[in-house]
Amino acid sequence: MSKNSSNLYNQKDLIDIWRKIKIHSAIRYFSQEKGPELTYSPADKHDRKQAKTFMSTNNKNKDSNLKSRTGSNNSFETNIALLGGGNIGCAIARGLVNKAGYEPAQIYLTRRQTKSLGRFKKKGFQVTTDNRRAVAHCKTIIIAVQPTQLNELLTSIRTAIVPDKHIILSAVAGISNKEVSERLKSKVPVVRIMPNTAVAIGESMTCLAANGQRGRAIITAEKLFGQLGRTLVIPEEHMIPATALCACGVAFFLRSVRAASQGGIQIGFHAEEALEMAAQTARGAASLLLESNVHPESEIDKVTTPQGCTIAGLNRMEHEGFSSAMIKGLVTATEIAGSFSPDKNGDGSDD
Ligand SMILES: NC(=O)c1ccc[n+]([C@@H]2O[C@H](COP(=O)([O-])OP(=O)(O)OC[C@H]3O[C@@H](n4cnc5c(N)ncnc54)[C@H](OP(=O)(O)O)[C@@H]3O)[C@@H](O)[C@H]2O)c1
Repeated sequence: MSKNSSNLYNQKDLIDIWRKIKIHSAIRYFSQEKGPELTYSPADKHDRKQAKTFMSTNNKNKDSNLKSRTGSNNSFETNIALLGGGNIGCAIARGLVNKAGYEPAQIYLTRRQTKSLGRFKKKGFQVTTDNRRAVAHCKTIIIAVQPTQLNELLTSIRTAIVPDKHIILSAVAGISNKEVSERLKSKVPVVRIMPNTAVAIGESMTCLAANGQRGRAIITAEKLFGQLGRTLVIPEEHMIPATALCACGVAFFLRSVRAASQGGIQIGFHAEEALEMAAQTARGAASLLLESNVHPESEIDKVTTPQGCTIAGLNRMEHEGFSSAMIKGLVTATEIAGSFSPDKNGDGSDD
């Protein structure tokens, strides 16, 4: 550790000194050491003071960085409650921290059995079984339980909701905003959202719908999910087809990448090579559409030379029912998603 010409340590050294001070205090505390404190020379004292000042300024800077990203410090206004820490709840939690600049401490993540959320707890997320506590600390409440679990959850938080303070974003498939409001018996603004699991890496396609006018809730939801991928506000009656195309769609496109990689193995590549080649080719194809806003056929035309191998492969796939299989799959997924509401089928099962 060396001081520079002005007798000051550099940043790394000051952090090291601070760590040593902290370690020494911790050892004294845990060993219940009652002996005399270490004595410090005037030079040591000067170094300790420098380290202390540096750490306090550093922490203040960290706080103000957080403030600039999220608009204020960790507080009710900026905290987010994710009620239902399953697949999509955890994916949103990861996305908020990795892509939207939230601190883990700003995210309240709940489920009834929190054992599987240990990794989130370690990272500093507010993991709890207490939905009411989460609601009390957060303005934005995202509901991500299964349709059959919704009634119990809404009953448990009903009296903790303050209509002019909270906003509710419901990712629950097949359940309308009206149904959520009625079950809550509240005028709290409700927005229906349909993200997909790529939300974890900031690549979701999230559809949103709200009843009535474009109010503060949908603006907040659009802003939030805009940081986690693309958003589209749609009429609420289109939310079920959106579930099939965007949420189930992740699985449909992954299955087509898997099929391409299996074909890749048959034509000569090792499994990992084939998967990487197929996945990156799929990403490139999707990016061509999204970045240049063109129709797939105009990009396909650029790849299909007369009597070439691409058109031969494509036509063979169509003879085998490629497009037809995708369309039929989407229609079936839409039919099933439309039957999720417990009010419609008696149990709300989404198996
Ligand atoms: N997965 C997706 O890609 C996706 C995409 C968009 C929308 N959705 C919709 O989001 C919802 C959740 O889907 P999922 O796939 O994430 O299901 P999931 O993995 O089963 O997650 C649901 C979670 O809710 C928790 N939960 C149940 N009751 C609760 C309560 N009273 N309080 C707190 N937590 C509770 C469950 O944990 P415990 O049993 O431990 O409580 C479970 O972790 C569904 O309605 C689905 O349609 C899913």
